[in-house]
Amino acid sequence: MIIGLAAMCTVLCCALVPAAHSAQVVAADSGLLHLSRQSVTDLEVSGLLAGVPQASHRFITYQALLSLPQVSATVISDENFTEMKTPRVEISGVYLSELARRIRIASDSDLINALCVDRYRAPYPASYIAAHQPILVLKINGQTASEWARKTGNQDPGPYLITHANFAPSFHTLSYQERPQVPTEVVGLEFTRQKNVFDTISPPGKFAADSPEMLGYRIAREDCLRCHNRGLAGGTKANRSWAVLSKRAIDDPVLFARSIQDPRSVDRKATMPANPHYDAATLAALTTYFRTFSGK
Ligand code: HEC
Repeated sequence: MIIGLAAMCTVLCCALVPAAHSAQVVAADSGLLHLSRQSVTDLEVSGLLAGVPQASHRFITYQALLSLPQVSATVISDENFTEMKTPRVEISGVYLSELARRIRIASDSDLINALCVDRYRAPYPASYIAAHQPILVLKINGQTASEWARKTGNQDPGPYLITHANFAPSFHTLSYQERPQVPTEVVGLEFTRQKNVFDTISPPGKFAADSPEMLGYRIAREDCLRCHNRGLAGGTKANRSWAVLSKRAIDDPVLFARSIQDPRSVDRKATMPANPHYDAATLAALTTYFRTFSGK
């Protein structure tokens, strides 16, 4: 828990790109961003881009991404590849931190959301990026994701996916251990602020840092927010908002905890991933946290 709070402090203290550095690259790489899509494989970027109206989007071509400094790594434990029964692959791509440096993002942007086809949304706070150096994958075993998938008979994880050269959890909260954010079918990156996203789901009221409400919040923003949303914050893959989860937690806390730990025991057709490693205290913290929203 102590490590958890330290991580939270780092989250609040750093930005994605140090201000001086971003100023240097403005002229060199502003040509990366296109006003309109050139190809289905373009990466869409949005949010706090300098000189771009906030609601608009820009596009970067796959070729332009290949022209940025590339990093390669042998990936051996990414769950996406282990699930595809190809546990060991060579990938190459661009560090998210490098990409953020190359495009002109506002100096107070401290969170990147990776947006996926299925409305899954992986959050990358600045502290996560600094600790784990996530890589936007451009090639798998020397081929595009689609080519690689076709040749190996796997589901296409592209156009983009994000992985790490290696990932070591840097904190845990109760029985939640920091998990790697490894989205596939990524189509866009949104540059935003942690306060726009995390404040939206902070429990209403004042709670001590080690209260179940705050521990539940810490877990929810890393875990649940990927698929469940509150307003504009979070993914909408689950199609069940914070208000729905809150109502479930209030109406039947026991069933709520069970549907987190073992969704298929509640609904045979559930697709939500099970969390068999969440112990009673962790499930209680999540339930207590979701109850603070009074079903709203
Ligand atoms: C990878 C995506 C994903 C993540 C992460 C996720 N969920 Fe879900 N959740 C779903 C989906 C999809 C459903 C809809 C039913 C189904 O297919 O499982 C769902 C349904 C639920 C339900 C049942 C709602 C109802 O209709 O009664 C609850 C409760 C719930 N989620 C809670 C949580 C909590 C709490 C977390 C975080 C600890 C979480 N979920 C994390 C995808 C996710």
